[in-house]
Amino acid sequence: MALPPAFLDELRARTPMPALAARRVRLSKSGRNWKGLCPFHNEKTPSFYVYEDSFHCFGCGAHGDAFAWLMRCEGLGFMEAVERLAAEAGMELPKPGPEARAREQRARDLHAVLAAAEAAYRRRLTSPEGAEGFAYLRRRGLTEETIARFGLGWSGAGRGALAAELREQGIEPAQLVEAGLMQPREEGPPVDLFFNRVMFPIRDRRGRTISFGGRILGDGQPKYVNGPETALFSKRRNLYGLDLAREGVFRGARLLVVEGYMDVIALHQAGFAGAVAPLGTALTPEQLEALWRISPEPVLCFDGDAAGARAAARAAEVALPLLSPERTLRFATLPAGEDPDTLLARRGPAGMEAVLEAARPLAEALFSLIAGAKLPEGPEARAAIRHRLIQAAQSIPDRALAAEFRRALLDRFFALSRRPGPAAAPRHPRPVPDAEAIRAERARIVMAICLRQPELLPEIEEPLALLDFPEGPAKQVRDALLAWIRQAERLDSAELIAHLADGPAAEACALVLRPAGLPPEARPGAQPKEALDAFWQMFGFLRGEAELVEDARAAAAALAETNDAAAQARLIRLTAALDALRRGEVEDLSAAG
Ligand code: UTP
Ligand code: MN
Repeated sequence: MALPPAFLDELRARTPMPALAARRVRLSKSGRNWKGLCPFHNEKTPSFYVYEDSFHCFGCGAHGDAFAWLMRCEGLGFMEAVERLAAEAGMELPKPGPEARAREQRARDLHAVLAAAEAAYRRRLTSPEGAEGFAYLRRRGLTEETIARFGLGWSGAGRGALAAELREQGIEPAQLVEAGLMQPREEGPPVDLFFNRVMFPIRDRRGRTISFGGRILGDGQPKYVNGPETALFSKRRNLYGLDLAREGVFRGARLLVVEGYMDVIALHQAGFAGAVAPLGTALTPEQLEALWRISPEPVLCFDGDAAGARAAARAAEVALPLLSPERTLRFATLPAGEDPDTLLARRGPAGMEAVLEAARPLAEALFSLIAGAKLPEGPEARAAIRHRLIQAAQSIPDRALAAEFRRALLDRFFALSRRPGPAAAPRHPRPVPDAEAIRAERARIVMAICLRQPELLPEIEEPLALLDFPEGPAKQVRDALLAWIRQAERLDSAELIAHLADGPAAEACALVLRPAGLPPEARPGAQPKEALDAFWQMFGFLRGEAELVEDARAAAAALAETNDAAAQARLIRLTAALDALRRGEVEDLSAAG
């Protein structure tokens, strides 16, 4: 049911965000707004801000209005969130017309039919006629508990068994046709669609059964039969396991997309509570939307073979036009010839965990999908690839994000382009094309470190001010930060970020802190020592070799003169940075060989 925008606006106005958020988050006043510890990521100092009609986290980028809040906090669907808030605000939902009411009644009836069918299938699985099916599932490693949790069943053998049984409950074959359980025929009465199969109830996100998949025992074609499209079931909108995964993800599991029914079930049984699968088709935009409602960064698992790469490329293509800073993907690649089910059987949960740990961010996966492992030699072929990289980035509607992708993809392209063969390795690093983009990203890392660890500023303020930053958010943040130090009472990250978030550098600050692309040292919760090392390494890169040599020389002179600890520390840092810079360049080149 589509709701009138005026109704939604009124409801938003009657649901102030601070009161809503305060039920879950301890908020304290910050200027005109409120802030607290973000409920969507782990943090020790507050970067979560609540405004009258929205929330925003400067740490993880979570953002939205009252509806989005309930959808994220409690995993509600949009309509559910609206219903809940309307009830609390004492507003009545606009009444559906008679047609919509009739449709809803029919849907209720259909749900009841499917529930009755599921009960019948489940009963059969544990009765003598289902013994073979039950043994098959047990042989595939499923426990009785798992079988019950997923509601697995046995179809029965003949093509009229279900109709006969359900008729006793007052359910007519016509209803079974509508529910997608029987097939109408040109001549004669309809027949059961599923027979001689173990049955997998397909449930909607609220856990109501809306269709079934059926697997043949052992080999045979087709291996799986899926229910047809019905009033309740749309293949492109639903994902197998979504009801359970939603719960799992809210309890902390990773949202995982795999290919098959058995993969989902085996994963849940092994403790991967966020597994889902599309229903025998490639991922659709509707399915991606459903995934992003649950998690900002679902992990897609693909086979390690050519078909897996094609499926991954297709998924990336579907996803790009839908991306935003809060909605992205990761890609995991399974060992060739394995699916999650077989991998778990062979290597256990640790084997699967390793695959997930190695999942690559979208930009990285996208580059390999477009450019392959090795760039071609000819200028025409290379230009074609470069063109496709640019086009891929251009298909992202969010302009800032599109620019980031373009840069990330082209950085990689140029980095690969200048990779010399091992024999031809030059002694000295060549100037890097697109150096501006790399500088900008390094500057961003430096500033993220400063924002997260301002207690390091006494040591790094001076070198920070020395750096030649490109125009952009990092530079803006640095200038604001250097101004802040002068008046700050305490060098506290939350206070600093709050200060910037209230001023003209707010947007730049959010851009600098965007987690995508930041190393762990520049993220919240990093060890100060590691952050400091990372700062100096970036400092070295940004400063350049010649300048660093000069800096080190000056520091050595200062040390000789004053012999104080600060000068000594500075010299050690600069020497280390110089080392890292030289080693970094060498590593860069040797990694190419
Ligand atoms: P697979 O052939 O990889 O099957 O198909 P699987 O999931 O590993 O099944 P098991 O382990 O042999 O039992 C992957 C998915 O593609 C869809 C199903 O959703 C299946 O889970 N599929 C496959 C069909 O819809 N029909 C088919 O005939 C085969
Ligand atoms: Mn399988």
